[in-house]
Amino acid sequence: PRELLLGIFQDISERKKAENILQKSEERYRAFINATQDMVFIKDESFRYVMVNRANQEFFGKPEAEIIGKTDFELMPPEAARRCRQTDEQALQSGDIIISIEKVDKKIYETRKFIVPIGDRKGVGGFIRDITEIRTAEKNLRFQAMLLDQIHDGIVATDLEGNITYANATELEILGKSLDQVVGTSVRFFGDDPQRGPTQEEIIAETLQKGCWRGEVVNFPAGGKPVIWDSRVQLIRDKNNQPQGMIGISTNITERKEFISKLEKSETSLRALAGHLQSIREEERITIAREIHDEIAQIITALKIDLSILVSDFRLQFPEFLEKHTPDITGMTDMLDEGIRKIRHLIRRLRPEKLENMGLIEAVRSQLEEVRQTGGHKISFHSNLPDIHLNDEQRLAFYRIFQEALTNIRRHAEADHIAVSINRKNERVILTMRDNGIGIDPAHMEKPESYGIIGMQERAIFLGGTLTIQGQPGAGTTVILEIPENHK
Ligand SMILES: Nc1ncnc2c1ncn2[C@@H]1O[C@H](COP(=O)(O)OP(=O)(O)OP(=O)(O)O)[C@@H](O)[C@H]1O
Ligand SMILES: [Mg+2]
Repeated sequence: PRELLLGIFQDISERKKAENILQKSEERYRAFINATQDMVFIKDESFRYVMVNRANQEFFGKPEAEIIGKTDFELMPPEAARRCRQTDEQALQSGDIIISIEKVDKKIYETRKFIVPIGDRKGVGGFIRDITEIRTAEKNLRFQAMLLDQIHDGIVATDLEGNITYANATELEILGKSLDQVVGTSVRFFGDDPQRGPTQEEIIAETLQKGCWRGEVVNFPAGGKPVIWDSRVQLIRDKNNQPQGMIGISTNITERKEFISKLEKSETSLRALAGHLQSIREEERITIAREIHDEIAQIITALKIDLSILVSDFRLQFPEFLEKHTPDITGMTDMLDEGIRKIRHLIRRLRPEKLENMGLIEAVRSQLEEVRQTGGHKISFHSNLPDIHLNDEQRLAFYRIFQEALTNIRRHAEADHIAVSINRKNERVILTMRDNGIGIDPAHMEKPESYGIIGMQERAIFLGGTLTIQGQPGAGTTVILEIPENHK
């Protein structure tokens, strides 16, 4: 009996041991199942809960003991329970894994249900995962991608080697490719022309080195017109400041460029036209001056001579008649003299005669001297140049600018001092005219009915130079003309 007892004892201890092992293993599974955030359950053939893990207990808000043995109809609102039952039945009948997405309150769940053997019977097991956050993130991503697609700028993201990881709709449209076709390919294949801009290779190198790049890029899409981009490329870094890739944002400026070049062309031809009109005007003035001089001045001079001959004849033949009319004759002579003076003045205004008879600097000096003599202005003039050598047209343009500036001072400035200088500096001839008057108001420079300053500016451009007008209220005005000296 002792052996038997021992035998039984051994038997019991073996069983105990096995039970122990089983219990340990059971505990491990339970710990595992309870540790997951997913809900895990098993229901029997009549859809009564056999097992629910902790996450599922929390979902129901009940301890396991109050769930085991119950159906969903006893735990959930009828509509939700009915839907649950449907997929339970499907899983049990089909033997497949049934995946479904369910919305409960504001949360979205993904459920997977499948057959689980319970002893020699069948039950339904399942995982239920809360995918609300993933879904929201996906939605946000889709929303952001949609935003990027709405943008009229082309956007391309690449890795550090320049292989494309993303391109938005605008970029794809220009490239004439789909996202699948470009992802993984190198931006080097966009095509570039070293003659017309930096290559993709250079852009990548500089972005990696300096962190960003900006400039114009010309691409040659297969079979299409060249596209000009204004591009900004930026190195992307992660939280630890490690470079992760690059993103390029490009604005298609092809049309803008074309427009600007058209505009520039039309501006150039307008300039040329203005210049042409100016010289026509000058020519016309010279012609009119010549005609007045040759025709009318001659006639008046002839009249004066005729008159004096007439007077001599009268003195001989009708001395008392002449005596009687002496005041009239003096008046006539005076009128003719006045006429000649007026004509001379007119000719001088039409044709800067000074300029014809002397050098530019001397003409300026002489004109200023004339202004000084009429009084009202103290004049200073200084020049470190013997003369400026320009061709006739250019001399005239220079002189006309000077004249207009001088006229403006006399007409508008209310100044008592005019300081003029013509100097050479850095291979440029600089005419400076300063007055101490009321100071030009910048708004007045653009008066629609004033052509003086516009004309000065056009002439300065004709000379290949620049005209600057600086005015300060109460502190006078300075007009500066700068022309390059090689304009000879
Ligand atoms: N030296 C100056 N001091 C103060 N104001 C000035 C001076 N020069 C020009 N201005 C102002 O600038 C305006 C524009 O000058 P601008 O020479 O273009 O036209 P304008 O002299 O009025 O007419 P015009 O077409 O006959 O020359 C003038 O009307 C005047 O108000
Ligand atoms: Mg003027």
